[in-house]
Amino acid sequence: MRSILVTSALPYANGPIHIGHLVEYIQTDIWVRYHKLRGRDCLYMCADDTHGTPIMIRAQREGITPEELVTAMHGEHLADFTDFLVGFDNYYTTNSEENRLLSEEIYLKNRDAGHISHGPVRQSYCAKDAMFLPDRFIRGTCPSCGAVDQYGDACEACSATYAPVDLKDARCSLCGTPPEERESEHYFFKLGDFEEFLRQWTRSGALQEEMANKLDEWFNEGLKDWDISRDGPYFGFQIPDAPGKYFYVWLDAPIGYLASTWNYCKRTGRDFDAIWRKEDPWEVYHFIGKDILYFHTLFFPATLKGGGFRTPTRVFAHGFLTVNGQKMSKSRGTFIKARDYLDFLDPEALRYYYAFKLSNRVEDLDLNLEDFSQRVNSDLVGKVVNLASRTAGFVNSRFDGMLAAPYPEDGGLYREFVQAGQEIDQYYEQREFGRAMQAIMRLTERANQFVESRAPWVLARDESQKNALLEACSISLNLFRVLMTYLKPVLPRTAQKVEAFMALPEGLTWEGRETPLVGHRIQPFQHLMQRVDSKKVEQLVERSKGDMAPSSPPPVAPSSTPAPQVAVDPLAAPISIDIFGQMDLRVAKIIQAEGVEGADKLLKLTLDLGGLGQRTVFAGIKSAYDPATLIGRLTVVVANLQPRKMKFGLSEGMVLAAGPGGKELFLLSPDQGAQPGMRIK
Ligand code: MSP
Ligand code: ZN
Repeated sequence: MRSILVTSALPYANGPIHIGHLVEYIQTDIWVRYHKLRGRDCLYMCADDTHGTPIMIRAQREGITPEELVTAMHGEHLADFTDFLVGFDNYYTTNSEENRLLSEEIYLKNRDAGHISHGPVRQSYCAKDAMFLPDRFIRGTCPSCGAVDQYGDACEACSATYAPVDLKDARCSLCGTPPEERESEHYFFKLGDFEEFLRQWTRSGALQEEMANKLDEWFNEGLKDWDISRDGPYFGFQIPDAPGKYFYVWLDAPIGYLASTWNYCKRTGRDFDAIWRKEDPWEVYHFIGKDILYFHTLFFPATLKGGGFRTPTRVFAHGFLTVNGQKMSKSRGTFIKARDYLDFLDPEALRYYYAFKLSNRVEDLDLNLEDFSQRVNSDLVGKVVNLASRTAGFVNSRFDGMLAAPYPEDGGLYREFVQAGQEIDQYYEQREFGRAMQAIMRLTERANQFVESRAPWVLARDESQKNALLEACSISLNLFRVLMTYLKPVLPRTAQKVEAFMALPEGLTWEGRETPLVGHRIQPFQHLMQRVDSKKVEQLVERSKGDMAPSSPPPVAPSSTPAPQVAVDPLAAPISIDIFGQMDLRVAKIIQAEGVEGADKLLKLTLDLGGLGQRTVFAGIKSAYDPATLIGRLTVVVANLQPRKMKFGLSEGMVLAAGPGGKELFLLSPDQGAQPGMRIK
């Protein structure tokens, strides 16, 4: 029997699971369930990727420890995956004792074999926050196009890439202080030592062709030393014998695959060493997105090799999700979180659609929302479920649930369905899920044609056709059972319902499909699957837009409306601390305020945000304030609101005010002592 260990990339603990991630987890889960259906000893390992600066900073902002934050995220992620029927054998965390021990072991073995070096590195440092700043925590003006407020490594406006030192007017994105350059000692993994091994591994068939080509490019460019250390404060593992130095998150993240396995083995009494410290007999496969190829095909196998562990059998990379032909986007409502999807739609609908679209190549995959509804409704509801729902009722009501015996003459149809299993098996094995689904749907169409040709609903009207009715329904249900066996990796929940309704104590099994059910009593048919309602899809898109902070000035009631004493708005829907944490509220000083020609409700405010510079904001507060009285006072501004182009100019934030509007508007202001630019949390 084959023994197979499978992983998906470990999702970052600092954000929610979205439908882009799910391309990977659903794809992997289908492959794992396929192997399990084929009776293989298959384990699916995953974990949260917890370390690094972003987690540390976010925890600080939320006033909790990083450990508390990653524990909360772990719970959310696992719930999302479980509800999408992604069946990990273990879902662990990289912030674990197992992972620390394994990371140290791998590091020390590499060090002792001479594969680690160290030397000084100059890097941006924030004196105020007393920490080195990752590129993403530096913002400034793009040196090539002049766009303001760009990250330290790349410009979102012109796509230029550069070093943080090249950024003009660079500032720490946490506190607004201009960073300085400081030197510190870093540790490096000498990737070049492993070139021979990596070239050989690449050629061993471990990679898809497109990936092997990419690797050739990298070999030709030359393998550079990899900086694996970060200075504290850093949320991660301390490097042995290097006080104040931590492993860079990408060093310990993939070792998390091993740590999760180890934890699983301890829990279940299985042999970890047999899996990870020997090449045979276990096969080890990693599913990843194309964006993390370098880490999985160069750094990870090399660190494993140097650390005395086995290397992956194969790495499977997939492309990225687009929605309606474009990158997922918050403003279009296509940046859809797993949880939001689940609030409106059936997880198996997405599982089927992704399966239908997936191949084994590194191609992007498009979720076209209209096509999604049509495809699922036509294939699953219209063809597959229909097959059972049109025939099971007769068997139950007319024949006490008992299928025909012996199996009736069906013109070789059943044999054909069993035979087709060979082709479908191959498609699954090769991760050609789209082809597998097409093959299954071709069979489903044949089965439906059969039912139509026999027309059980006509036979049912004629008592003398009783036997023909039973035969037609028995054949149809037997074909349905074979089809559901083939679909079981994709639709595990429906498969389970079918196992109950067809009274299959062994379940739908690969071998079981070879013999039809005869003289077998089924249970009353139960509802299997709902149509995708396009209204729900629309609601989901609306919900996904809902995450955006409102980008217009607060609505102002016409002043003729009598304002109630205290206006009480109904409480808005609860949001997670995660969403709240994304909002950057700052103390701002109003240094200028004036009316806006042609807009009788607006004031144009110039705000001083201390280290973050000045902002212009248009606010709908003119009915309540004489601009002159505002100058010099402190207020509160949403500082990370997407700038909004208005008729009168760009509004770069939003000031906060309470009250129903008109004259009843009350600008918020902090207590005495607050300084412009301070973050509100
Ligand atoms: N934490 C790292 C992986 C460490 S593995 C030792 C990471 N996390 S991630 O949350 O950003 O992504 C997890 C996986 O989801 C990656 O394989 C990534 O490629 C995949 N996807 C994330 N967004 C995606 C799409 N929009 N489309 C398809 N897959 C995507 O990377
Ligand atoms: Zn700072």
